[in-house]
Amino acid sequence: MAHRGGPSPARKHKPAKKHAGRGGPPARPTHKSGGHDRNHTFAKPGGVRHVRIDKTAVAAPDAAPRYPAQLLEQALAEQSPSTLVPGQWLWTMREGAERDLIEELLMAAPDGSSRPRRLGGALVMSAKPPPEREGRLDVTFARQGFRISQVAHTEDAAELASLLGPAFAAAVQSSENFALHVFVPDSTRGNELAGRAQALRDRLLASLPNATPIDDAQLRRHGGTIIQICVCDARTAALGCSSSDAALSLWPGGRARMRLGGDFPSRAARKLAEAFAWLGLSPGSGEVCVDLGAAPGGWSWLLLEKKARVIAVDPARMDTALMQNPRLKHVQGNAFDYEPEETVDWLFCDMAYRPLEVAQMLGRWARHRHTRLLVANFKLPMKRKVDMVERLRGLLSQQGFTGIRTRQLYHDREEITLSAHVR
Ligand SMILES: C[S@@+](CC[C@H](N)C(=O)[O-])C[C@H]1O[C@@H](n2cnc3c(N)ncnc32)[C@H](O)[C@@H]1O
Repeated sequence: MAHRGGPSPARKHKPAKKHAGRGGPPARPTHKSGGHDRNHTFAKPGGVRHVRIDKTAVAAPDAAPRYPAQLLEQALAEQSPSTLVPGQWLWTMREGAERDLIEELLMAAPDGSSRPRRLGGALVMSAKPPPEREGRLDVTFARQGFRISQVAHTEDAAELASLLGPAFAAAVQSSENFALHVFVPDSTRGNELAGRAQALRDRLLASLPNATPIDDAQLRRHGGTIIQICVCDARTAALGCSSSDAALSLWPGGRARMRLGGDFPSRAARKLAEAFAWLGLSPGSGEVCVDLGAAPGGWSWLLLEKKARVIAVDPARMDTALMQNPRLKHVQGNAFDYEPEETVDWLFCDMAYRPLEVAQMLGRWARHRHTRLLVANFKLPMKRKVDMVERLRGLLSQQGFTGIRTRQLYHDREEITLSAHVR
């Protein structure tokens, strides 16, 4: 991330010794661990210092898997997409997050009945989806998922289109509006199949000249059926349908590329734009937003674009141009010490800090009814991310947050986005 106004990432900082502020992160020696550490800033009254965040510091010590270990081993042993059959579920995710999704599916059905299997980079299948949460499919580590209704196996492009043609025609006929998403897994190998996916789309549409799909902007505005086809490898493509209300994402394969106009201070703005698209909700004009871990100001920039009033809390400097906006106030300090003067509409948090401690601090906002809504991005550098997500959800729910949703969005890296509201 481009930190325009913040401290130089190259600068050397002393490790944190103890926290001096009220209610702040507990004094704790920092740990060293191989390979995965990242330096992040956090505040001390009167200054900024860096702490080292590592896997051991944020790992869930008491988290034992709630499913037999051999189920995970089996699921991780790669299986060819040529084994896919109708009735199974197909999932795409960030490349490298296959294990996270598999663990999530296993945790949701510890008896192994979901039978997840890795099919390759960014591609997993399962016998069934996890149980719905609050009436909807809510899977943290999948970008897109659908129940397969037809599978075709052939290397020949024309034959592939004719094998899928009848299922495609039936899906078109049974839907009022349809969008056609033909996509590939977002992996190095998967992306090489983009030409094959485009050719398949063209052939299917040419086979039904009177059927016109709606575009993605129309889909997001008016809804409809998404006919999904995943070109899994050079031989196999799977088709299924989702209604836009129930789909995990309204973007092909869940690749929600956010295009933002204007000069925004950090790429993090895209994460928040995607979160708003995912939630179908964003702040209105004049609403009060607190942005914890705001520097250099990508999120604050987007909130100001929405005409909200923003209190940005971060020990680091905010983008200079942004600071000219009269609707922005910068509290240059530690988020663990900050309390709002009155209840705010939205609490945002993108702090680079230990997730459980951040969640505890956010919990205080729910207990004191300091906010109505929460959108938080949690950094998850640890291996067992699924356990951590469960703990974060549990902790926030105990503290009074409800309607908790979690997702590793397209613009998220080793992190997830969480949304909730206060009961
Ligand atoms: C990923 S960056 C935030 C990017 C920001 N959302 C944007 O759109 O530009 C993480 C930020 O967390 C801030 N941070 C870390 N610990 C903090 C703390 N205890 N209080 C406030 N901010 C903190 C860092 O200074 C850093 O600016």
